[in-house]
Amino acid sequence: MRNDVLLATGFKKMDETVTKFQGYQFIGQVNYRRELIASVKNLNPDIVLVSDMLSGTEDLTDILSRIKMEKPSIRILYMTVAPNANDVPRVMALGSLVLAGIYPFLIEKSVTPTQIQYAMENPVRREDVEFLLKYHKKASEKNNSLFELEEELEQDDVEEDGYKNVFNISSIKPGTGKSFISVNLSTIVAKYGKKKDGKAPRVALVEADLQNLSLGTLLSIEDDKYNLKTAMEKIATIVNDKGDLSDDMEKVESVNRFVLECFRPYHKVKNLFVLTGSKLTMEEIENIQPFQYIYLVELIANEFDIVFIDTNSSLAHVTTYPLLRLATKTYYVLNLDFNNVRNNTRYKTTLENLEILHKVEYILNEDYVPEYMKMYGVEEPEELVFTAEHVRDSDFNLAGTLPMIPKSVFLNRLYSAEPIVLDETGAPYTLLPRLEFARIANQIWEIDNLEWLEKEYEKQKEEFSDGKKRKGFFSR
Ligand SMILES: Nc1ncnc2c1ncn2[C@@H]1O[C@H](COP(=O)(O)OP(=O)(O)O)[C@@H](O)[C@H]1O
Ligand SMILES: [Mg+2]
Repeated sequence: MRNDVLLATGFKKMDETVTKFQGYQFIGQVNYRRELIASVKNLNPDIVLVSDMLSGTEDLTDILSRIKMEKPSIRILYMTVAPNANDVPRVMALGSLVLAGIYPFLIEKSVTPTQIQYAMENPVRREDVEFLLKYHKKASEKNNSLFELEEELEQDDVEEDGYKNVFNISSIKPGTGKSFISVNLSTIVAKYGKKKDGKAPRVALVEADLQNLSLGTLLSIEDDKYNLKTAMEKIATIVNDKGDLSDDMEKVESVNRFVLECFRPYHKVKNLFVLTGSKLTMEEIENIQPFQYIYLVELIANEFDIVFIDTNSSLAHVTTYPLLRLATKTYYVLNLDFNNVRNNTRYKTTLENLEILHKVEYILNEDYVPEYMKMYGVEEPEELVFTAEHVRDSDFNLAGTLPMIPKSVFLNRLYSAEPIVLDETGAPYTLLPRLEFARIANQIWEIDNLEWLEKEYEKQKEEFSDGKKRKGFFSR
């Protein structure tokens, strides 16, 4: 056994005493903590005799564990005063040495040369100093907050598939019900969407049909300071039309905050946030550029659980195409007008060429549902020949159908800025449209009242067919 000893006690009298011990070669002496690591490297001792008396302010436990890590075979005889059992930091520090394989030689008040020699010949054992680990053990017992192994998230291909939580409502001709549908879908998700971790989904609704600003009126939202125009203007101060973003991070942050502020909560459903500007003139918004919408969508896709965008009907409108790319799905609104259906068929080729057809689904609006219409006392003179079934059969991937709603009801909800999906039990004649909205929304986000609506509508149909109030079920 080699017995080369490096002295690092910082204690002259002790070094003199120890060098008299038989059977050891004393190969060097270190006077400062900061020299210890280098000296060990140069002299390659078998034993290092060290004590707290060694000069310097460096952390000795750190130095010693580093030496041990570099040279595991080395024996460190570390002489130190036995700690008070309640001195948690000190016991922890010495415990860490034990974990590193350095078992300190604990001295009560004083030590004799014989005791040092004994310790050099009989290394301190782990069990002698294991009590120094008591706080470590306590700490690891207490730590019952375990972590989980999470599955690697699949990288979304935004370029190809769009943002998973962004949905457009579009149509090939104006006036088919885009705004009506956007408003009701976003309201039902916000109001009846299943809570996650106790929180209702945060839903955003964006006005992007600049020719026909509707959302502000439909939800009674108006703000002179925070609206579509001011948001877009702010965005233009940090991005240019090539999509280059300012590198002034503070400015970007402040613009982002402002833009999010422009999403105003709907007073009846506070987790629905709407970007609109119903008082704006055409001139005020005609210069909005695609890059502004692109930036906007990228920002809010990360801030909201679900984003709905009420888009323009014309693909020729500059903002329409980028929005179709950014969304995971676009609902095209159709109606039973055979001419409209045929045009939608032709339009599919265009959507295919733009590589967005795979993200398109259809919603048939103003569907003609005789059984429902009879309930509120409307009977058409002829039976309809071209129906929803025909639309479905002509290869339109229908996400759902929405019935023709009595005009008075439609206009009243519009005027009071209360989407029909907020109707309570007391409005039986809106049960079917509410149910249909819940069915469509449920494909996006689980809807809590879907089952209830299904049952209620079944009940309603039964009662009606019982013939109790055959004529004009709901009519006064
Ligand atoms: N399901 C429906 N039942 C009855 N009328 C409807 C329905 N959907 C739309 N309408 C009528 O169509 C008009 C246009 O709807 P809107 O949502 O403004 O269309 P868009 O946003 O596509 O221009 C409404 O004012 C209303 O008169
Ligand atoms: Mg509209």
